Amino acid sequence: MLRRRREDPGSPPAPAAAAAASTQQPLASLVVEALDHGVVVVDRDERAVLVNPAARAMDILDVDKLAFPALLSIARKALDTGEHVTDTIDLPIDRLGREPIALAVTAVPLPGTDERASGVCLLLADVSEQRRLEAVRRDFVANVSHELKTPVGALTLLAEAIQDAADEPAMVARFAARIQHEGSRLARLVGELMELSRVQGADPMPGAAEVDVRSIVAEAVERTRLAAEQASISVSYACPRNLRVRGNEAQLASAVANLVENAIAYSGSGTRVAVTAAGASDDESRPVVDISVTDQGIGIAEAERDRIFERFYRVDPARSRATGGTGLGLAIVKNIATNHLGAVSVWSAVGSGSTFTIRLPRVHSDRSSSEPTDEPSEPAVSVPATSVEEE
Ligand SMILES: Nc1ncnc2c1ncn2[C@@H]1O[C@H](COP(=O)(O)OP(=O)(O)O)[C@@H](O)[C@H]1O
Ligand SMILES: [Mg+2]
Repeated sequence: MLRRRREDPGSPPAPAAAAAASTQQPLASLVVEALDHGVVVVDRDERAVLVNPAARAMDILDVDKLAFPALLSIARKALDTGEHVTDTIDLPIDRLGREPIALAVTAVPLPGTDERASGVCLLLADVSEQRRLEAVRRDFVANVSHELKTPVGALTLLAEAIQDAADEPAMVARFAARIQHEGSRLARLVGELMELSRVQGADPMPGAAEVDVRSIVAEAVERTRLAAEQASISVSYACPRNLRVRGNEAQLASAVANLVENAIAYSGSGTRVAVTAAGASDDESRPVVDISVTDQGIGIAEAERDRIFERFYRVDPARSRATGGTGLGLAIVKNIATNHLGAVSVWSAVGSGSTFTIRLPRVHSDRSSSEPTDEPSEPAVSVPATSVEEE
């Protein structure tokens, strides 16, 4: 039975309403034409009698017939029952060669002169992007659970082992040390998850201020000093004075520190890591600052270079775990760079080394306007630690 949603079409319209309807008619067509949602009206014979541009772009018609059985069955159901039908369908193939699309479909039966609907209006929304985001979120939750499960499982086993070895102090000490190790892995993972969630938060640049790039670089090198010492890798940095960017200093330092940590983790002992910052111009001649971290490490194969910025992606999971990696570092770096209206890029040669560069918009400070912004270049800075030396 057709559900009548508006006035009974059988009764003649009031004169004022009729006048309004005649001026609204073209207006309604204009609105339908301009809608982002696809609109298709099919008649009782299942022929499309109205198709707006958005629906045409979805490529769902074969001449004037609905090309997909799933879509046709929604239209038929609305025609037969006279009820609204809502569903989400996947269009598996795409004749225009695009990604498969997911459509949220609402079928609204149109009033007829008899008991049956005269046709159906199909409202179509492309929900492919929402679908993709849902899948990304599901994957992320699955990955987090998996990453947490490993150390938590290890902790449980180690606690049992300690119980069993209660009479052997040497074993107890060994297991306790491993508990400590797993505990700190867990703390690191949770810490990085929190940092990732912070940099994905609503405020892209909390407490943004003008920041001296030199202090960002110095802070990052300082934070990685211990790791460099332990790996016998020398880290040097060179940064001109008066190079300024706008943003959150702690986050920018954390981004650079992540790159330096990686440079140390994925290089052999006795190699060198160099951090440099320089003023430059981008493709559109806008002033930028490039902060680069160069290592002489294992390098990254070309096929991996995009994927390493994904959360939890590691080229060699075993090596990453051995160095205490969580697979989140570069995802954090990428988020911080984009939040600061910049980007991160990588150059690499397998077996020779890599250079990661964070490019940020450069700010010309009033205070430093009397001085050149990227000259004179300071010599490489020596950090007072044996393994962190001047270049
Ligand atoms: N400087 C580098 N040299 C070689 N490989 C690197 C370097 N930096 C990152 N990678 C690769 O990218 C992966 C992702 O890096 P990241 O997100 O920091 O996670 P991880 O915690 O594993 O270090 C690493 O596991 C490693 O395979
Ligand atoms: Mg890392």
